[in-house]
Amino acid sequence: MSLVDSFGRKINYLRLSVTDRCNFRCLYCMPENGVPKVDHHEILSYEELLLLARSVVPLGIEKIRVTGGEPLVRAGVIDFLGELSRIPKLRQLVLTTNGYLLDEMALQLLSAGVQRLNISLDSLKPDNFAAITRGGDLGRVLKGIRTAEEAGFPIKINVVAMRGINDDEFEDFAAWTLEKPYAVRFIEYMPTNREDTWTSKVIAGEEILSRIGNRFSMQPVVRGEMAGPSRDYRISGAAGTIGVITPISGHFCRDCNRIRVTSQGMVKNCLFADTEVDLKPVLRSGNVVALQEVLRRIVSEKPGKHLMSETDTVHKPFAMSKVGG
Ligand code: 5AD
Ligand code: SF4
Repeated sequence: MSLVDSFGRKINYLRLSVTDRCNFRCLYCMPENGVPKVDHHEILSYEELLLLARSVVPLGIEKIRVTGGEPLVRAGVIDFLGELSRIPKLRQLVLTTNGYLLDEMALQLLSAGVQRLNISLDSLKPDNFAAITRGGDLGRVLKGIRTAEEAGFPIKINVVAMRGINDDEFEDFAAWTLEKPYAVRFIEYMPTNREDTWTSKVIAGEEILSRIGNRFSMQPVVRGEMAGPSRDYRISGAAGTIGVITPISGHFCRDCNRIRVTSQGMVKNCLFADTEVDLKPVLRSGNVVALQEVLRRIVSEKPGKHLMSETDTVHKPFAMSKVGG
């Protein structure tokens, strides 16, 4: 059985947010004072999240990414990940984190069965990092990344590329991959909260690559099976790779294979979809068949592409902290 949308895209990837809370307050993700506290009952319990996960794998979901907010701040997340990793036929269990708690949690994550980590890291300069995250401690994140690397995790680094904010650091990130076996991916800034000035922050993937290419010579990396949306390159002799993810300038949507569920149980068939469906009633009824029906319908209604690169963006603003990227 599989989930195929009306454009023939096979949906085999679920992004599951377990909390919209975070220990950072990144400029593009959260208001300065954090997100309003949500009533406990509005958040899916681990039992409900597991029921959801166990119901989607038989529909053809092969990969689950746990996201936030910051997933590692939710109490009990290690046991939850352990349960997820034991779901038969789930091929990949991966996690996105800001890295702040990795130094203490990396080994537990590995034992729980998490296979790979994506770490959000927008600056390699302590001051700039603190400015972007509104107070984050770069040294601690770097230590966490090192611990995770030593534990044996394959590591991807997500850098949201923002003109005037971190675009003087692309070459530094590229140089970092000379020594470190990380996949550093630059993501074009997306206008989640619809500020008028968003286009001035966007730097196209091509520009990022050409700036790095002025300093280093690099070759494209052959795409593997289940490769994500990133186009990757390796600088000659480097341990790691660099890549670009181009939601704005690129043909990103054509290969989209994912759906998202927020910590409040809202399923989204596109990051920029204005309509969400609340899975809580059907999850709480415990009716797996009805749940699977809703998911099939959501997939069948998945839009062909977002209209983000058109000048007149039409989507409603949303908090990335609720959706988890
Ligand atoms: N534009 C691009 N990427 C974003 N992310 C969060 N908000 C944005 C945005 N506005 C990325 C973060 C994180 C992932 C979950 O989503 O880098 O790594
Ligand atoms: Fe937290 Fe990640 Fe949002 Fe930054 S981008 S505030 S680290 S959830």
